Amino acid sequence: MAERTFSIIKPDATERNLTGKVNAVIEESGLRIVGQKRIRMSRAQAEKFYEVHKERPFYGELVDFMTSGPVVVQVLEGENAVARYREVMGATNPAQAADGTIRKLYAKSVGENSVHGSGSQDNAKIEIAQFFTDSEIVG
Ligand code: CMP
Repeated sequence: MAERTFSIIKPDATERNLTGKVNAVIEESGLRIVGQKRIRMSRAQAEKFYEVHKERPFYGELVDFMTSGPVVVQVLEGENAVARYREVMGATNPAQAADGTIRKLYAKSVGENSVHGSGSQDNAKIEIAQFFTDSEIVG
């Protein structure tokens, strides 16, 4: 099976009607969107999802932001999907993101940075399982 990664189109992007534009960058990169749904993240979901950042000073702000509006959760599939999507997103801070990346094109700040992508294959499995059942992923 091709590798999979987990993606979130964040509230700053859904608010500006950028779902289609972000998806165009993803699809043009060769990654395939094999699962996708628009949801409102509950506080409990966001707190669990970002648990690794619990001790960071921005944790509260991050959970507030991720629950402030709709998000689109996605499963992306392709060769080296985890690393490939990190390239396609660009650096966490849009000021440092390379030209043509999603964050360079659309992110507003390090916090409101339009997209999330898994950091490793192990994390991708955990993150996908938090938001998708097997039957919601159609490869
Ligand atoms: P993400 O890939 O979703 O994973 C953790 C998130 O924390 C990251 O994207 C950023 O949006 C957010 N983040 C990282 N650093 C900061 C910061 N200094 N201030 C606010 N949010 C941050």
